[in-house]
Amino acid sequence: MDKDSNSYVVVGLGDTHCDAEPESVYHSHYDESNRWAEIQHQEFRRNGEMWRTRCPRLLGASATLARDLGAAFLLQTGDVIQGDCDDAPTHRKMLGDCIGLLRKPYPAGLPFLTVLGNHDIRGKGAREVYLDFASEFIAREIAALPGAKPRRGGVAYPVFSFSFHGDLWIFCDFENNDLQPVIDAVESGGGARHVFLVTHGPFTTPDDGSFRWRLGGRREADGLRPRLYEALSRRHAIVISGHTHYTSYYRHSNSFGGFCEFTATSVWSRPELGEEGDVFTTVDGYGAFSMPKFEGERLEDFKSQLGFFRPGLREYYWSMAAGHFAIAISDTSVGVDFFAGDSVVATRHFEMI
Ligand SMILES: [Fe+2]
Repeated sequence: MDKDSNSYVVVGLGDTHCDAEPESVYHSHYDESNRWAEIQHQEFRRNGEMWRTRCPRLLGASATLARDLGAAFLLQTGDVIQGDCDDAPTHRKMLGDCIGLLRKPYPAGLPFLTVLGNHDIRGKGAREVYLDFASEFIAREIAALPGAKPRRGGVAYPVFSFSFHGDLWIFCDFENNDLQPVIDAVESGGGARHVFLVTHGPFTTPDDGSFRWRLGGRREADGLRPRLYEALSRRHAIVISGHTHYTSYYRHSNSFGGFCEFTATSVWSRPELGEEGDVFTTVDGYGAFSMPKFEGERLEDFKSQLGFFRPGLREYYWSMAAGHFAIAISDTSVGVDFFAGDSVVATRHFEMI
């Protein structure tokens, strides 16, 4: 990284789905009539196991980097908790407990920024609790960043932003089908050095069974999706996302300019996901993982959603590996190092600017 006074490093975690064993700690009020109960109980068990075993090691590795690199803040890409409490006080307690647990290994006082994920608002009363929590918590964390300035009315979804070292950091609710506030926020960054968009669901169509569950993925967003694509491209923006439980990197280039996206996951749900494993490293691999799983209309829909991004895709990476990341930011460059599992040696490096 170039050494200049405006250089800084952000350490990052993907989805963490923080939870605890036994299930009764946070799920004693869980509504068993939920049609997804069987799957959600599997998730509770998955979370409990990974947070008892591997994830604390991943957290420790990220905290070591934060200390060694003098990180400015910790960025978490949403689904910080599992949710599914079905009880507002329990949901609030889960948020407080889990964020306390997650930040514990890091240097004292390191600001912790997290974006709204679908699990963060999942369960009865959860959305209200989260929005109330986020407006206070995130505002406090931004205030703890030296020189950071919140913009446009503080922390309020669907979009909020702040400036830091001349960069514009935008956080959005990825399930808001009206993309106009995100477009406005990106376009407001005309004078910014770099523009970062943090969104739980990716903007680029992911190679994933839930490929429409993304920022701008629903049909209601069809009209404005090209405008957000253009706005991000004109600003050479950097998109940081999560949600898919895969690690991905995209470089888009087009007549407007271009932008890059990095999608993270810290859901180390099986031991082998701590290694890079099988990867796709060229644009020919875009969609190759999920394509064989679809047929008929769903296959055609998948192809159409890939097709929106495919013509401008210049670089692509995809891995099932979970891990953590660090973003090095300077006047002339932005780069993401991806660390699989509990590694403190970079597994991959991606140029974002
Ligand atoms: Fe998610």
